[in-house]
Order: sequence, then C-alpha cells, then structure tokens
Amino acid sequence: MKATLAEAFNQTSYRLSGHTPRNLEVLKQALNQVDGERASDMYGKGEIIEDFQDKLADFLGKEAAVFFPSGTMAQQIALRIWADEKQVKRVAYHPLSHLEIHEEDGLKELHHLETILLADENRVIELEDVTGLDKEIACLLLELPQREIGGQLPSYETLEAISEYCRKQGIRLHLDGARLLEILPYYRKSAAEIGALFDSVYISMYKGLGGVAGAILAGEASFTEKSKVWKRRHGGDLISLYPYILSADYYFEKHKDKMDQYYQDAVQLAEQFNRCPYISTVPEIPVSNMFHVYLAKGKEAAESLLASIYEEGGIGLTSYVKEKNEQACYFEVSIGEGYHSIPKPEIKKTFELLGKKISDQEENEYCG
Ligand SMILES: Cc1ncc(COP(=O)(O)O)c(C=O)c1O
Repeated sequence: MKATLAEAFNQTSYRLSGHTPRNLEVLKQALNQVDGERASDMYGKGEIIEDFQDKLADFLGKEAAVFFPSGTMAQQIALRIWADEKQVKRVAYHPLSHLEIHEEDGLKELHHLETILLADENRVIELEDVTGLDKEIACLLLELPQREIGGQLPSYETLEAISEYCRKQGIRLHLDGARLLEILPYYRKSAAEIGALFDSVYISMYKGLGGVAGAILAGEASFTEKSKVWKRRHGGDLISLYPYILSADYYFEKHKDKMDQYYQDAVQLAEQFNRCPYISTVPEIPVSNMFHVYLAKGKEAAESLLASIYEEGGIGLTSYVKEKNEQACYFEVSIGEGYHSIPKPEIKKTFELLGKKISDQEENEYCG
C-alpha cells in the first residue's frame, strides 16, 4: 500500500519548514542551563515572569507587557478592553484573520463583540477600506503578515497612513503580530518602530521564534493592567507559567537575529518553486520567512506526487495540502533553522525530482 502524504513526510530526514521537530527536546534544550533553585513565578508575579515582560515591553517600545498562555486569549482580551473603553461593541479585521476563522467565534461568544470584515479575502487591508467604514468601531486589528494569504503585507506608508487615520478618528489600532519579528527585515524597521504605530501589540513566542507556546501583549500600563484582570477571568493566570516563559526567552535570544536570513532563504526558495511547471507561490516574492505554494493539480494527484518525492528525495516539503478548488491546492512554507540543516545538493535533487515528476504526471494524464 502506498504511504499517505503525512506518513511519507514523517519518514523524511529533513523538513523545509520550522526549526527542529516539535518534540520534548524543545523544552529540554531550553531548560538545560537553568538554575533549578530559582523560584517559580506565582500567578503572574515573580522575577521570571516580570523580567521577561519588561524585556519584551522594551523590545516592542511599549510601557508594559503581559505574558499569556496563548495569542487567542491575549487578542480577544485586547479587543474587549478597547470595546469597553469606547463603549462600542464593534471591531474590524480581515476576513481571514485568526479570530475570524480559527477561534470558534470566541470574540462573539465570550465578549459579544460584533465584527466587520474589511477588504477582499485575497488581499490585505488598505487605507481606503478603513476610511470607507460606514459604522463606528472601537478597534481595528491588522494582522502582519496576513498569514492565510501567504503572509502578504501592506506597504509601510499604508501602515503609517492607517495609524494616523485611526488616531484622528479615535479608533484603537491593534497589531496581530504573531509573526512580527519575521517581517522586520522586509520593512527594515525595528519592532519598536512598528509598535509605535499601534495602541496594542501581540507577538507569538512559538512561531518563527520557536518556543513551546505563549504570547506577549503589550501597550500602555493602563491597558496591560486591565489585560491581567481579564487573563485571570479567562483562567489564563496559571500558577506557574515558567516552562513557557523560560523557553520563550531561550528561543527569542536564539532566533531573533536570524529573521533576515530566514527571509532571504524564503525569497530564494520561492524562486526555485516558481521555476517548476504547474507551481507558483503567493506572494510571488515573499516579504517574510513564509509563503504559500500553489500546485495546479487536484488534491489527490498533488499528495501522491509529493509523497513519491519524499520517498526518493528525503526532504519533506509539507505534511498536508489544502484544496483550493478541483484543479488547485496549496501548502505553507515557513523558514526556520530546519532549512539550514538540509545539505544544498539534497535541495537541488528534490527540485529536480519535483520538476520531473510533475512533467511525467502530466504526460501520463495526457496519454490517458
Ligand atoms: C496570525 C495569528 N494570530 C493569532 C494566533 C493565535 O496564537 P495561539 O496559538 O497562541 O493562540 C495565531 C496562531 O496560529 C496566528 O497565526
């Protein structure tokens, strides 16, 4: 019996995306050098959590920061605080934002907030979408990069213009910066420079940064103090969060200065994909460490093609493909340390296989 795509992927020696495999070694590595006598954090207090929060507040150019177990919790809370402040139970974001499609309507069910979906789902939010709003909103959330469309970004000038407009209109601007560090090389800005355009900022500790889990929510102290109350209400004030915090800190230090390399690798890799027949990337030229790879093939044909490449080439390009329509499917690539561990000749071999097998498949289909 032929292996499924996921099975074939699990057998590969190298993976294109991410850092090391997400196994327990991730935590073990991070705790290796830790002094076992150090006191744990307790319900959001203590040196371990407070020092890390201060460090990240500084990094993001904000007065204060709070460590959360998840971005899902942190962001729903941020929007709730801004809605309460303005006494307007309405916020706006992109139709494919994480809150809209991955959080089981938490914002609506838990906080009873109404949402306005801005922009067409295949592009990023532009200034005109914001100025064209015909209902009052408390907060606009921008996700940078917009993950579900391959990690696209608006221009920096657009960000500045949206920020200025929101300030004038009394609309709070929140940054879903789950992957904020990953876009700094493209914008050529610091996290604090981008943070200055927003009233509140969230970053993830486990995506490009590679920690176990966790999130930071930053803003003025009056905002973050309220977020701590909500964190407790949500049950997010775990007695000890140190396994997440210590690993977040460890991988923050390890990976934060490598984002430029990941970005350049993504640009180069997308170019190689785009040279293959029936393959294109979105965006064509990446603006961060991530992009989506589109195959002009049905899902089943794409899966069997990829599985056979893994078996011969040993590099796992993806463990899944998502169907776009009957003739097209796609998967996400996001570069981290894993890509660097792959010997270059192996990568070359995989792309040769990809080109050849796509052509063979086409010929077979054509010949019936
Ligand atoms: C853009 C974006 N925002 C928010 C989140 C939520 O993060 P968490 O998994 O920590 O809840 C994710 C997670 O994938 C994400 O991709």
